[in-house]
Amino acid sequence: MTLRLSTLIAGLMIAAIAPAFAQEGGPGALGAAAANSPGRTLVLGKCFQCHTDSMFRDQRQDRRAWEATVYRMVGRGALWTSEEIRLMADFLGTEFGPAAPPAIPR
Ligand code: HEC
Repeated sequence: MTLRLSTLIAGLMIAAIAPAFAQEGGPGALGAAAANSPGRTLVLGKCFQCHTDSMFRDQRQDRRAWEATVYRMVGRGALWTSEEIRLMADFLGTEFGPAAPPAIPR
């Protein structure tokens, strides 16, 4: 009985941890360089509400173009303040700027 219970507990723990590893193109895909920047936190919290980062992580463009992209999302229904938009454009223009390395092939 004790053995079966511990097997069950181990199984539950694996089930709880597995999704973190299975995550494809999840938040971990966004560069670690600016790990704690407010822009990164906002992008993680807001861009995934409608689609994953597969929609934008392959793109390389400057800050201004990213700002335009973010405003396109506002046109598609996103509700963000101009401050949030500024911070997200800052982050995207750095992390996914013209000089950024290509996304890791999957
Ligand atoms: C309100 C929902 C919503 C949110 C939030 C959202 N998007 Fe989108 N996004 C869309 C829709 C809808 C499309 C079009 C999907 C399609 O064409 O299949 C799209 C497409 C895109 C595209 C490709 C097409 C284009 O216009 O460039 C990019 C890049 C993109 N999103 C980036 C972002 C980024 C970056 C964020 C966070 C700042 C974000 N999205 C947040 C709804 C959203």
